[in-house]
Amino acid sequence: MTTTIEFPRGFLWGSATSAYQIEGSPLADGAGPSIWQRFMHTPGLTPSGDTGDVACDHYRRYKSDVALMRDLGMQAYRFSVSWSRILPLGKGAVNPAGLDFYERLVDALLENGIEPIITLFHWDLPAALDDRGGWLNPDIANWFADYGTTLFRRLDDRVKKWATLNEPWVVSDGGYLHGPLAPGHKNLYEAPIASRNLMRAHGAAVQAYRATGKHQIGLVVNLEPKYPASDSPADLAATARADAYMNRQYLDPALLGTCPDKELTEVFGDAWEPWSPEALKLTHQPIDFLGINYYTRNVTRADERSWPQRAAPVRQKQATYTETTWEVFPQGLVDTLEMVKKRYGPIPLYITENGAAFFDPPVAEGNRVRDPLRIDYLRKHLTAVHTAIQRGVDVRGYMVWSLFDNLEWSLGFSKRFGIVHVDFESLKRTPKDSARFYSRVVATNGAALSEAAD
Ligand code: BGC
Repeated sequence: MTTTIEFPRGFLWGSATSAYQIEGSPLADGAGPSIWQRFMHTPGLTPSGDTGDVACDHYRRYKSDVALMRDLGMQAYRFSVSWSRILPLGKGAVNPAGLDFYERLVDALLENGIEPIITLFHWDLPAALDDRGGWLNPDIANWFADYGTTLFRRLDDRVKKWATLNEPWVVSDGGYLHGPLAPGHKNLYEAPIASRNLMRAHGAAVQAYRATGKHQIGLVVNLEPKYPASDSPADLAATARADAYMNRQYLDPALLGTCPDKELTEVFGDAWEPWSPEALKLTHQPIDFLGINYYTRNVTRADERSWPQRAAPVRQKQATYTETTWEVFPQGLVDTLEMVKKRYGPIPLYITENGAAFFDPPVAEGNRVRDPLRIDYLRKHLTAVHTAIQRGVDVRGYMVWSLFDNLEWSLGFSKRFGIVHVDFESLKRTPKDSARFYSRVVATNGAALSEAAD
């Protein structure tokens, strides 16, 4: 028996991108450099040698990109603002041309019936603030709140959903602990400080929003459920450490006003300092929604060689893996959504990213890019979202990652996550088969998920 899938009325369907990954022209019209501009322009720091100088050239092509979203039937678009386009030095003088760009983008979206969802920070910190210590400087909470206020004042009359940070865990882990991402530090002692200041900045921006904005503001985290490889006490403890490190380090302060100190002390040793009551208070601001980015899960076992968590993922023999070596595991999305509801209460949730890089054909054949693996991934994960909703989780929308093939950070243009193919020579956009599929899902509010697979 096939049952027809139907999402709740008003469920918001859209796609997501981020500024440095798609915009190009990073220094145009008075913008200051970001840490990603510097990182990608330093030879040897990234394996690809690619840069965001052109990327998808969205900065210049935003109008036709919005028209494409409209043609695909998108109802919402989650994008991020480049902080150093607005404040070239990260604080102080505003660059009017930078603000104008995002105002034009918001207006174009609204004229096409697409709801803008703005992320204030998707990793491209102004380089001038990095020179002052970046996320290690406690003053960054105020700098971030002031930057947010500049945007809220200009755009809150038209933008109804805001997110503070995108994935604080990735910034701390990739930027300060292991170093493959900007600013490229490898320092056990810095990572916990960066995490704490990221979350303090989140709290300060929410407070600033309450003073200036009238709509909704939330936080976007990437959650990855951790399942123990066995029932052995060592594996169970390793799983708890991995979960605390990646998930609860950010969720608990934001939603409970606590920190998983026990596990984080096991991970960081003397580098972990419990947060002060003031820091926890600042971080624990009521938010209107939580954005969840979901890609994969980990089956975890104890492993003394894996630094600093002493917990390592176990490769699953029967599973499908994406091109970024992430296991395809849709049930993990159901489990994650149910866990959030159970542990943190009935907060409205959005899936703010979900998607996959697969080995697509590199060039469009005529006007077609066949990407059956991505369609399968999306079908299974959207069905998982529907299952969670049926089990009582309040999920209000879904943003596919990503609208376009784009700059996958240090990996450059080699990993294609888009539902729209981008030819990085000609910059031509070609909707892949997955874009057509997703369009049908959007147009039917989910019913197309019940169609037989091609
Ligand atoms: C990030 C995106 C990134 C995607 C795929 C997320 O962690 O928010 O910027 O492209 O994952 O790696």
